Amino acid sequence: MKILATRHFPGPAWDDLRDVEYDEGPLTAHRPDIEALALVGVVVDAQFLELFPNLRLVANYGVGYDDIDVAACTARGVAVTNTPGVLDAATADLTLALILAIRRRIVESDAFVRAGRWGTDWASGALLAHEVTGATLCIVGLGRIGHAVARRARGFEMRLLYAQRKRLGEAEERELGAEFRHLDDLLREADIVTLHVPLTTDTAGLLDERRLGLLRDGACLVNTARGAVVDQQALVAELVTGRIRAALDVFTDEPEVPRELLDLPNVVLTPHLGSATQETREAMTRVLVENLLAAAAGRPLPNPVYAS
Ligand code: 8YV
Repeated sequence: MKILATRHFPGPAWDDLRDVEYDEGPLTAHRPDIEALALVGVVVDAQFLELFPNLRLVANYGVGYDDIDVAACTARGVAVTNTPGVLDAATADLTLALILAIRRRIVESDAFVRAGRWGTDWASGALLAHEVTGATLCIVGLGRIGHAVARRARGFEMRLLYAQRKRLGEAEERELGAEFRHLDDLLREADIVTLHVPLTTDTAGLLDERRLGLLRDGACLVNTARGAVVDQQALVAELVTGRIRAALDVFTDEPEVPRELLDLPNVVLTPHLGSATQETREAMTRVLVENLLAAAAGRPLPNPVYAS
């Protein structure tokens, strides 16, 4: 099976593949010889698929596949796979890091020290923050990553609320120590809101201007999911006023970051680092490769995704 990859993916598993050609893109050439694509961050739509008339598989390096028009793939008999599970811990760890950073003003404090402003008046309150322990953490989307965040948050004795389309069973709620709220109510009660929903037509702009307005003064928004789950313009407008705080790992049009955010003390910015550890990225490669090998051998795909 002839594979076209947009990069050499990290880790030893990648070497299990034969017959790989590399092209960092943009992919614009007509390639009837290619049967599988291994890619990340490439928009795959009906027009793009016309370049690959004999394609059998689009193997996405990542759990989120919002760049891929799965229905268009299915219509052409092209399967789509992703890399779920192996990045839950790294993404949840980053989420906790961002919660701690924004809530305890770590980045502001770092800048304070570097600027030589640490004088004798450190106790004056210039960097007084708010507790993480005991705070109300509101999780939007309790999938695998949301669960991993919830388990970590329990170590910080946080009060856990969650919103999602389908409420968990009573036993599962009790085991996780999380109470259900409808989204608007959840936002009104939050000290911290963290987003863990995939980007779909249902979740695009889920936190719009009205919903952002429901957050209490001083509330923190953490986003390690997808930028477009939030109305970015409305978020920037709120952040510029200083009314709320945010730690953002994802943006609507990466790698573009709204200029207004760059100098704000109430914002922490990271460049889409959710899965960015050596261990996790290598594990993602293993999952990617398993899907490619299965397709080559005509075996069932381990991680197929379907149009919703
Ligand atoms: C990155 C992610 O896309 O898996 C996802 O959905 O957002 C991340 O893992 C991936 O690491 C490539 O940058």
